[in-house]
Parts: sequence; structure tokens; C-alpha cells
Amino acid sequence: MSIQHNNKFQEIISHAKEYGFVFPSSEIYDGLSAVYDYGPYGAELKKNIRDYWWKSMTQFNDNIVGIDAAIFMHPTTWKASGHVDNFSDPMIDNKDSKKRYRVDHLIEAKAEELALEGKKEEEYELLKKMDEYLAADDFVALKNIIEEYKIKCSVSGTSNWTDIRQFNLMFKTEFGAVAADNAEDNIVYLRPETAQGIFVNFLNVQKTARMKIPFGIAQTGKAFRNEIVARQFIFRMREFEQMEMQFFVRPGTEDEWYKYWKNERLNWHLSLGLPKEKYRYHDHVKLAHYAKEACDIEYEFPIGFKEVEGIHSRSDFDLSQHQQFSKKKQQYFDNDINPETGKAFGNYIPYVIETSIGLDRMFLLVLSNAYEEETITKEDGSTDTRIVLHIPAKLAPVKLAVLPLLKKDGLPEIAQQLMADCKPYFKCFYEEKDAIGKRYRRQDAIGTPFCVTIDHQTKEDNTVTIRFRDSMKQERIAFNKVRELVMQNL
Ligand code: GAP
Repeated sequence: MSIQHNNKFQEIISHAKEYGFVFPSSEIYDGLSAVYDYGPYGAELKKNIRDYWWKSMTQFNDNIVGIDAAIFMHPTTWKASGHVDNFSDPMIDNKDSKKRYRVDHLIEAKAEELALEGKKEEEYELLKKMDEYLAADDFVALKNIIEEYKIKCSVSGTSNWTDIRQFNLMFKTEFGAVAADNAEDNIVYLRPETAQGIFVNFLNVQKTARMKIPFGIAQTGKAFRNEIVARQFIFRMREFEQMEMQFFVRPGTEDEWYKYWKNERLNWHLSLGLPKEKYRYHDHVKLAHYAKEACDIEYEFPIGFKEVEGIHSRSDFDLSQHQQFSKKKQQYFDNDINPETGKAFGNYIPYVIETSIGLDRMFLLVLSNAYEEETITKEDGSTDTRIVLHIPAKLAPVKLAVLPLLKKDGLPEIAQQLMADCKPYFKCFYEEKDAIGKRYRRQDAIGTPFCVTIDHQTKEDNTVTIRFRDSMKQERIAFNKVRELVMQNL
């Protein structure tokens, strides 16, 4: 990461804390690594992103329904899904500092160093080798790379490495009263993805909501992973939230649906007005244990291009596994006529296309894209700066700030009338304290798209000043047009 980018990332982290978006968890006890709490504006922004996703999935698609499955699931779920055996990352420890690293992250950091030194070809070669050896689970070759490139531990500065080992990322806990001799039987996992709650409910949902293939099941909720590399703010957390959708299709149609969702999901990001040039696809070479085809939607965060969402063609892997482990049929009867045979398609286990986005990562994306330290040239030619969050209006924590110019002359009463008029429709904020310029700056810093000032002229002609966050332009509009104007922009 370049120093300039690192500074921007640090500024965003400080801003998020100072303005009530994100706090380190249990901060009075010095925090808990890779766990964060959302403050008043953060909770609003997070909810608005979740709602936007939920609506676009379940309201705009007639063939997608939502569920809310429990975090705890029967432990066999995770044997069937492959997480007990396969949900692990290759890790390496530095013997001097005792610090543990994810092997791909260690090598990627070296590649980034090479890129910064202008050694683009070496960077490319290194990443190519890494992808190849990761795909083959060739840990000896991966360790050779680490030695060949003399990669050092950032803490001890030495290259005294252990062998590479796999490390399972699931958190375990115990269920009910535990007897010492059968403690193993009581182990449950904190789910590492929400997807399995959808798979085990496939037939419940299909039957009760009378869904016909192709159809999707959407869910948002917490997931937990014992991440080793955990120093990237809310980018990589140990407790985070996912927004996942499993789309069940007829076998043989999965490639076209994979393309469809790959395209649809990028369009969802762009529908928020986010810049296309900051996005790219990354098609996977090394596939997860369940995947037939997979790609990431990556965004250019201040820490570089990183995954925000995954699109995975999961074949019939999950439902077949649950059928085998539960001994309960997970088949769907398709009574559509197959034009090739002239008969119904009949019974089969559907194939699945998954879209999986991290809510916290999307939050960081929105914040990173929104954050600007802007230089303003005043009318007299002098300059000033302001910190502004250009959050898309429909996601902004507060949509409208209502600001009486003075605390007297009946202005607060008129302002409260406007609050009462708008509050039922969108989130408003009322403030009388401080000079108006200062109040505008505070609203800019939390990304409020509209501020309305009530002044003495309001009493005369029923007009108010509306100020637009991004352009800072001010206009005089009728008092009774404010609500409509804000709503049009949401
Ligand atoms: N069900 C598939 C699945 O979980 P994934 O690629 O492991 O796939 C999907 O995760 C998304 O969840 C990622 O694209 C990312 O946005 C988010 N995510 C994964 N691990 C995360 C973590 N430790 N902290 C924050 N978000 C995470």
C-alpha cells in the first residue's frame, strides 16, 4: 500500500470514529482485534445498505424470497458443507516473532513491493506462481517462493519460517450443559457463512412459498471467521454480516444464470452511482471446494483493488451433500416439458448460483468512495477545506437537516413544523446550536445531502433556503415543497 493510500485509509478510519460511524469494539478495554461496533450514523448507513440490497433482491425480483435462519445450526451441517474439512487457509508462522501469516497475503505484499519498485514483470511472475501452487495445494513450492524472494516477517524482520499448515477458520462453542466425557458431542459452530441456512431450508421454502425453478432465496445476517490477518479495519473482521442469495436453477442452465448474476450484481453497485472505473471482475483460478466457476467483484479501496462480492456457480454440491448427510431427499419435481424428450423434466437436485456480498465491506466501499477532503475557493479568492461524505442520497444516514437560523423570533417553531412534516418519510436531524456555516460543515461530515435553513424571510413568504451537500449551492424554495424535493432524490 502506498504511503498516500495508507494516509487516506487512516483518515477514513479516524473520521468514521470521530463522527459516530464505527468504533473499535469494547474500546474501554482497549478493543478486540478485528471486531467493531457501529455508532449512530454507522448503524443508519449499514441499515440503509442492507435495506437497499434486500429490496433489490426480494421486491424487484418476483422469484426471490427472503428468510432469516438461525446462527447456530446442527453441527453436521458443517461436515456436509465441507467446512469442517476444507474451510482453512494455508498459514505460516515466523519462529522469532511467533506471528502467523496467511501465505497468500504474505506473497501478495511482496508482489506489491515489487510493483512499487517498478518491477512489474517480476510481480506478475510471482503472482502467477502463487496462484498455480495455491491451486495445487503445493505447500512445499509455496514455501520455496517465500525463501527464494527472501520474504521477511514485518515484526521480527527475519525469514525464520515454519512449514506451511492449514488452519480452520470456524469458531466453536458448546451447546447446553456440558459433561466432560461427551463435550465433543455438544460442540456447535458459529456459522462462517449464511448460505447453509438457505440450503437446509431449500424444500421448506420451495414448498411453503410455492416457488418454481428458477427461483432464489435471500438472507442477510451475521457470520463469524477466526481470521488470522485482521488489521484492515472493517475490511476483514472476525464477526461480520453477509447478504447472500442462492439462486436454484435447472441443471444445464447454470452457465447462463452465472453470467446473468455476474452482470446483475455489478449493475446493482453501479445503480448507486458508484464509479464504474473503480470496479473490476476477478475470475478465480483456485476454486473453493464447492465451486464450479467463480469470480469476485473487486473495488479499488484505498488499500488497493479488493473483493467486495463473490459470484459462485456451486453446482448441486451443497444440496447433494445435505441429502447424503441428512438422508432426506433434496429433490425438486420439475413438471415443465423438456422439448428434447417431450416429457416433464422430472426430479432432480437443482444447481445453484450464489451471490454473496459482505455488508461491512460494502459499508467501507461506500465510505471510501464518499470521503473527500475538498478545497473550496471562496468569492474573495481565499481557500478553505471541508471534509465531505458524498454518500448516495438513498443511503445517507440523515437525509435532511432542519436548521433555524436563530433560536428566537418563532424560527424554531417553524423548523419543528417542517420536522413533523418530513419525519414520517425519511430520517431528519434538527439543530439550533452554532453558526450556520459550522452546522453545514457538521452535516457535510456525516453525508447529509440536504440542509434547510429557516430564516426571517420564511415568516414573510413561506420560503426556505435549501443547501445541496455536493455543490454547496443554495436555493430558495417553498416551505411545502421541501418534503417532495427530498423524496424525489431518494
Ligand atoms: N457463501 C460464500 C461465501 O461466504 P466468501 O467469498 O467467503 O463466500 C463472501 O464471502 C463475502 O463476504 C466476501 O466477498 C466479503 O465481502 C465478505 N467477507 C468474507 N469474509 C469477511 C471478513 N472476514 N470480514 C468482512 N467481510 C467478509
